[in-house]
Amino acid sequence: MTDVLDKPSFPGEVDRSGMMDHILGFPEQVEEAIEIGRDAQLPPWKGLKGVAILGMGGSAIGGDLVRGNLSASFKPPIGVVRDYTLPFWVERDFLVIASSYSGNTEETLSSYQEALFRGTKIIIITTGGRLGELASKDGFPWIRIPSGFPPRAALAYSFFPILLCLQRFFGLGDLQLNGLADHLRSLREEYRPQIPTQGNLAKVVAGKIAGRLPIIYSAPGPFEAVGIRWRGQLAENAKTLSFTSLFPELNHNEIVGWELGGGVKEKAISIFLQDSGYHPRIIFRMELTAGMMEKDGVEVLRLESSGKSLLERVFSLIHLGDWVSWYLALLEGVDPTPVERIDWLKGELAKL
Ligand code: PA5
Repeated sequence: MTDVLDKPSFPGEVDRSGMMDHILGFPEQVEEAIEIGRDAQLPPWKGLKGVAILGMGGSAIGGDLVRGNLSASFKPPIGVVRDYTLPFWVERDFLVIASSYSGNTEETLSSYQEALFRGTKIIIITTGGRLGELASKDGFPWIRIPSGFPPRAALAYSFFPILLCLQRFFGLGDLQLNGLADHLRSLREEYRPQIPTQGNLAKVVAGKIAGRLPIIYSAPGPFEAVGIRWRGQLAENAKTLSFTSLFPELNHNEIVGWELGGGVKEKAISIFLQDSGYHPRIIFRMELTAGMMEKDGVEVLRLESSGKSLLERVFSLIHLGDWVSWYLALLEGVDPTPVERIDWLKGELAKL
């Protein structure tokens, strides 16, 4: 199945819109995004009590990752809002970060208006669009990010500015950013198209997923959002369905469902996103559960994070997932970039 990925003619014409270049450029995007975050001109706001990050899809996942990465160290309430309305807990003394790559996402624009009404402090992260106009009109800081990316490929440009804004206002200590881009560069050398399948984990995983239903498992905290990222990338790049689930909760319900498997067991493949920082009992549970699934005839792929810091480990699995989704798209013969269904829906909604 993966032979095609090692042919001299690969990648050929399928990636017509150039997603490969965006994935290849990820380590450099990380460096640029860190600069953008560090250079952001922000008012000296004091006494902020909590954080809400507004966004959808490719512009929300950066917020999820920030929230997950800070879950063990950040005291104020922090949440990601994917909705038209703000939850009740967002109060006047909160920092609201509105993240929309295009600046035109209606849910984000709507919840932004509510934040304005509640009198919160607001920071806007966008390339422009209506949100960019509002930043100027309403007088809030606008962190401008580079245009020319599909929103999901601009992950670095939402994640790092959000993280560095929080560093500025809440003092997060050492973020351990040194070395992250180099670690990603070394992974890029392992996953890039020139490396044959035999030594290329991203190609191997894509080959195993092709034609099957991936169920992606991780744990609460930093790696929950990694699972969500995998699901989003498989959907948007490879036009493929997958589902996510979390340890230890699934051990209290979902594992029983595997007994009959609801007609999908034969098609399913389990992907365990593993990290040495998980609670030791979760690591133990994962191994027991993997064994149970294998007895049921379900293939389990155990993918271990790599790196010295938490951020390196998180982004190691994100970079792997991005490559897997790209290889899978090419195996399925679809251009990774276009998201026609999202565009169509946005077009129809704009008419109403
Ligand atoms: O990946 C995508 O294109 C989508 O998930 C978008 O990110 C989502 O529709 C929100 O749009 P924007 O990122 O422009 O706010």
